[in-house]
Amino acid sequence: MTATITSIAHYLPPDVYPNSYFEKYLDTSDEWIMARTGIAERRFIKDGATSDMIVPAARQCLEKRGLEPKDIDCIIVATVTPDHMFPSTACVVQNKIGAMNAWGFDLSAACSGFLFALVTASSLVESGTVKNVLLCGADKMSSILNFDDRAQAVLFGDGAGAVLIEKSKDKEYGIIDHILHIDGVGGPFLHQTAGGSYKPASIETVNNKEHYIYQDGQAVFKAAVVGMADVSLEIMQKNNLNAEDVAWLVPHQANLRIIAATANRMGLDKDKVMINIDKYGNTTAGTIPICLSEWLDMGKIHKGDRLVLSSFGAGYTWGAVYLRWGMNK
Ligand code: ACO
Repeated sequence: MTATITSIAHYLPPDVYPNSYFEKYLDTSDEWIMARTGIAERRFIKDGATSDMIVPAARQCLEKRGLEPKDIDCIIVATVTPDHMFPSTACVVQNKIGAMNAWGFDLSAACSGFLFALVTASSLVESGTVKNVLLCGADKMSSILNFDDRAQAVLFGDGAGAVLIEKSKDKEYGIIDHILHIDGVGGPFLHQTAGGSYKPASIETVNNKEHYIYQDGQAVFKAAVVGMADVSLEIMQKNNLNAEDVAWLVPHQANLRIIAATANRMGLDKDKVMINIDKYGNTTAGTIPICLSEWLDMGKIHKGDRLVLSSFGAGYTWGAVYLRWGMNK
């Protein structure tokens, strides 16, 4: 049995922050940001938490499928910016949308969160454990961004995507294969130092700005270029796919140069790569579902299309998913 995406929607906050916003108070420029990252603007939510971006996306996702919140069996939220350490954001979302019959949990895998959760959700559906999963990938990166640090402030944005995972009517369509990895040696290069049990919040951790993202950009860049490109090529080879067979690469949107290196390794032309980093920056667990949702809305994904989804993020975490588009219509 195969599991498939049967509905999808996304939410982006209305407030847009172009690169010129940072030029006003940081030693940076639109030229540098565009050339080094491919980002022109991003969106930050002014009021509200991660769940407040998920709820409109989740409601729209269910509406498109003609389901009520009570029809949902399980909610998984992939995020590194949960509303609270506990309860889980899945509980918050369940309560806000009234999905009273659902159980669920949060999944923490940073920029690979959506892919790890997609594989988890598919397994739950394929095994018959649940009938469906409302899978949400969302992050309010502005809640952990050091806006005084030019090396990170310009990279991220806020946003959410929601997909519904159900059993595929036809086993030829849906989530076909995956390759997922973690490697804890990457921890020192990208993390949030304080706020967990390792270093609970204190006056000192606040003064030292240890609740913000810590990133050694160059180290992460080097690992990401190799990791994302390798795993994307590996899943193609494992499934006997040529570049001509792949309709779309759906890459995590962290840096246009990482995306380009991945596409190049796969032998894909630029017109087969979903790119919206210019508009939204890196929304962490949100990037891949937001891409899928936008491209579907534009009518650019068709039944039978072969998609390779790939990501690299904190942990390190990385992986690729091969899916054949088919929505049970
Ligand atoms: N504006 C102007 N100059 C800047 C800026 C900026 N916004 N940011 C950094 N610089 C400067 C640096 O200070 C440095 O100056 P120096 O030479 O005087 O020291 C110079 O630019 C070059 O810095 P690098 O770090 O070498 O720049 P690089 O080309 O590597 O780009 C970047 C930095 C964009 C962060 C890149 O390294 C990157 O994309 N890294 C990977 C990010 C990533 O994939 N993260 C994983 C996902 S996040 C997650 O999982 C939560």
